[in-house]
Formats: sequence, structure tokens, C-alpha cells
Amino acid sequence: MRNCYVGQVSNKFLGQNIVLYGWVHRRRDHGGVIFIDLRDHTGLMQIVFDPKNDCFSLAETLRNEYCISIEGVVRFRPDGTKNTDLLSGDIEIVCGKLEIFNQAKSLPFNLDDTNLSETTRLSNRVLDLRRPVMQTNLRTRYYVSKLVRKFLDDSGFIEIETPILTKSTPEGARDYLVPSRVHDGHFFALPQSPQLFKQMLMVSGFDRYYQITRCFRDEDLRSDRQPEFTQIDCELSFINEEEIRSLFEKMIRDVFKYLKNIDLPDPFPVISWEEALNSYGSDKPDLRINLKLTNITDIVKNVDFKIFSSVASDPNGRVVALRVPGGASISRNDIDNYTKFVAIYGARGLAYIKITNLDDGRDGMQSPIIKNISDSALNLLIERIGAKDGDIIFFGADKSKIVYDALGALRLKIGNSEFGKDNGLFVNDWKPLWVVDFPMFEYDEHDKRYVAIHHPFTSPKDGHDVFLEEGSYNKVVSKAYDMVLNGWEIGGGSIRIHKEEIQKKVFKALNFTEETAKARFGFLLDALQYGAPPHGGIAFGLDRLVAILTSSESIRDVIAFPKTQRAQCLLTHAPSSIEDKQLEELHISINCDK
Ligand code: AMO
Repeated sequence: MRNCYVGQVSNKFLGQNIVLYGWVHRRRDHGGVIFIDLRDHTGLMQIVFDPKNDCFSLAETLRNEYCISIEGVVRFRPDGTKNTDLLSGDIEIVCGKLEIFNQAKSLPFNLDDTNLSETTRLSNRVLDLRRPVMQTNLRTRYYVSKLVRKFLDDSGFIEIETPILTKSTPEGARDYLVPSRVHDGHFFALPQSPQLFKQMLMVSGFDRYYQITRCFRDEDLRSDRQPEFTQIDCELSFINEEEIRSLFEKMIRDVFKYLKNIDLPDPFPVISWEEALNSYGSDKPDLRINLKLTNITDIVKNVDFKIFSSVASDPNGRVVALRVPGGASISRNDIDNYTKFVAIYGARGLAYIKITNLDDGRDGMQSPIIKNISDSALNLLIERIGAKDGDIIFFGADKSKIVYDALGALRLKIGNSEFGKDNGLFVNDWKPLWVVDFPMFEYDEHDKRYVAIHHPFTSPKDGHDVFLEEGSYNKVVSKAYDMVLNGWEIGGGSIRIHKEEIQKKVFKALNFTEETAKARFGFLLDALQYGAPPHGGIAFGLDRLVAILTSSESIRDVIAFPKTQRAQCLLTHAPSSIEDKQLEELHISINCDK
């Protein structure tokens, strides 16, 4: 029987007989003696097989990844053979008994290889998960869940499960659908989040709910998105925005303190959605980057440079500057590359001014555009942007979405570049914040209607229901908040609507007829009629939180069996076709040509 884990063996076991289980990580033969590094999830230990010992001939058959048990005595390694890279590098075990539980075929890749393609890793996930980094990631995930549960339990929350087979409510991302066998032509949907159930639990009087649960969204995938992902989903009654923010930032602070001994700021900074966009071009700003945008639309309304003046006269247009301290040294070639980069976001160009010496006025600037900008506008511009000698200022002029997307992305690109790091534009730190006061709606040009920015159950700010009444939907600000950490949105929530008449007005703003609202959300509207308490909540993306804590580039590295960017499981080959009999039972016929 195992009496110790590999990583627990230390000098204090010297002379003792111990039994370890694990895998052969490496095998070396030296002058008739066989060495292996035995691995379990706690670490590595050198095991020596001496030719004098009975188990030597069996040891000769050992290959990488054989699963074995060894029994032997701990001793100091001979002088000159100590390994300072290993915690247990000055000891080894002389094996007396060896048992091979199972052999292993030769592996399709070396577990120490750090340059494996994602296809290789995901197709061989069982082996990929043996790598120490993956063991650490999944264990960290478990510890985060455990800490979060303890925090929520101690704060009076109870965990309640909500349905996985539920009703399709096509607002937001696409649903994953499940056909019903007993109700022909009817479908369940997998939940995009437990949003409505948790609200109804508040109406039922549970007061504080949480659930660490899987959510499903059929949307375009990126490194921070999976079709199935895990939320730490919470809801509370009789609470306001500030109380929710203060409780949940404490939860995140505790997790960082316990797991990484990091002290996150107390309290987290709070900025409005508008300020986030104006200053950083993003509603999830990465505050590690010391660069800010400045809106100069009003200054350039009447300049001769037509690209600026025409955009500035369009109510949806914005002219925005990005000041890069020290950027006058950026080469023409880099500027060309940045111009190509912003084009990805739809920007038609990237104007700039390099400031060599402000005292020399125009002569101290290099720029293809300043000849068409008057002295007075140029002076105002320099003053508002706070430009200094040695800077470069980039300009974006377009519809506001394009400008913010393009300059927001350029801000990140420059901040994260070698230039940014060498010039102190990037601080390697933990920078959480709350973004609040989101607009309630945005206009969807494609569907020609307003859609909810957060979700349709978010409450308008106090006093803003009059805008709902008047149909001034673009003026409604909501009680929504997002928690952002180093540029990742790790959580989002809101105070909810708890009055039926306001919920109905929001459905109307979204262009739902009364019948559609009733058919889709009648159960919620009904619940709101029976003394629904004021309530609100939040959901954190567990995968994102753990990815940040483990410095993983993708959430796929903190999920045991993730899907690819094309929403497939390379291990099990899901999704797959199904048998005709199964289709018949569901009364489904497949027509892929349509
Ligand atoms: P939201 O849609 O903002 O809010 O989701 C909450 C958090 O879940 C994470 N997240 C994802 N993680 C991985 N892959 C995805 N595809 C994905 N989508 C979202 C993010 C996000 O901040 N019901 C509301 C919450 C509420 O209002 O209480 C909701 O689902 O970290």
C-alpha cells in the first residue's frame, strides 16, 4: 500500500522504507545502474535500480509512462550527483520491490515539450493532462471553487440547482437546442445562464442563492470563450449596487490573497461605461497600460482637414487622439504596421503628429496632416491632449464604434509591445476595476431595433423609466456593472427589474409585442406580480478567473476537456452524426443542402 506521495519524500525519511505509486517520467541507464524519475501529481523522485537487486531485470523493461509501484529505502545521493533543480534533489530511493501495473505505448509526444500544437494536445487530452502545468491548472480551479463556496456559504448563500433542460429564449447568443422525443417538434434549450431561475428563486424568498454551474452559448469562439463554460452565479434580495460590488470584490480579493498572496486594491476603482470608452476605447479596459485616449471631436469641427471636419460634424462620428509618450522615435515602418493593424477594426487610416520640439511650433512637429489644421485648433489640440516633446499622437476619425475599437486595440498593442515595456507604458501588476452605468440598450442596425446591452431584466437607473415612457431608449442608463481584471471581463451583473410594469416597458422597447413577451417570458411576468422583492446579482466566469490566476493564455488551458475554436471535442469527436433510428424517434429529418 502506498504510504507516501512522491512530492512528500524529504530528508526526514532518510533510511526509511517507503512505497510510492506513479508513472515513469524518464529513464536513464548509467554504467549498469538504472535510474528513473517517478512522477505522481505531487512531483518527481529519483529511483535507483541496482543490478544486485532481484527487481533489476524487471526494471530493464521499464519505459516512459509505465504505471508502477516501487518500494525502497531513502538515502542521500552520492556526492556530485545532486540535482539542485529538484526539491528532493539530494535524495533518492534504492528500489527493493517493483510492480508494473500497466505498460504504456510510446507517447505521440514528449510530455516536456512546450511547443505542442493545440490539435495534438486536445486530440490526446488524457496524456496532455498528465503534464505538471495542466495538473496545477486544474487543481487551482478546484481551489478557486472551494474558496468561493466557502466565502458564499459564510455570507449566507445557499446553493440551489436550476434546470439544464429549459426553454429557448432567443435574446443574446444562440441557444444550444435539444429535441423533445415526447413532444413532437418541440425543443428544450440548454441554459445560457440561470438568469431567470435565480430571479424567480428571489421571488420565492430564498434571499441569497449561488450555483457554480455550466452555461451554454452557441457563439463565435475566442481564447476567452467556450460553448460550455462555468459561471459562479449569484443572486441576492434587498440589496443595492454598492453593496453587491463591495461583497463580491471582497470575494475576489480573498481568492487572490489565499491563492497567490496578492493584495488587490480595496476598494476597486469604479468608472462609468462612458469614461471607459472615452479614455480607453473599451468597456473592459486593461489598466496596466499607461495610455489614454482624448476626445477632440469639438476642436476639429472646422479644420480644413476634411476627414476630421466631416466626421466631427456627424452626430455618430468621433475624432479621438492617442498620446504615446516617447513615441516620436517610432519608425515609419512601425507606423505603417499600426495603420494596417487598425484597418482590421475598420479604420480607414491612422493620422499622426510627432512632436520633436513644442517651442518651435509647427517646425517642431512632423505630420502629414498639420498643414490643414489651423494654429488655433492645433494649439487647443496640443493643450487638451497634454502633448510633450518626444511624443507621437495618433488620431482616429470615424463612427464612434470604429474609432474606439481601433484606437482601443492600438492602445493595447503599443502598451504590450517591446517599445511599450521599455518606455514604462506597461506596469506588470493586478489592475481590477468596476465598469458601471452601462447604457440599457444599443440599436441593432441589422435587426433595426434596440437590443439590451446587458440583458432585458436589468433595471434602469432611478428616474430613467421616464425615458422608457418617452421612447428615448438611447438615453436610458442601467444598473449594470462588470468586474474587469487586466483587460478581461471576469464578471457581470445588475440590479434587476422587480416590477411587472417596468419589465413590460423594457420588452416594448425591445420591440416585443405583448403576445411575444408573454409567450417567451410570461412565467417571469407572472412571478413579478406576487410581491417580488428588490433584487440583483452577478455571475463570474470561473474559467476566466482561473485562467488569469494561472497566467494561462486561453481558458482552454483551465478546462479539462474543452472544445476547439470550431466548437468540437477532438477527443470524443463530438458533435457527431446520430443513427437514423434516433432521428426517427425525434421526428427529425436532416437536410444539409438547404
Ligand atoms: P454575462 O453574459 O456577462 O452575464 O456572463 C457572466 C460572465 O460569464 C463569463 N462568460 C464566459 N466565459 C467563457 N465563455 C463564454 N462564452 C462566456 N460568456 C460569458 C464572463 C462573464 O463576465 N446572467 C448574467 C449575469 C447576471 O446578470 O447576474 C450573465 O450571464 O466572465
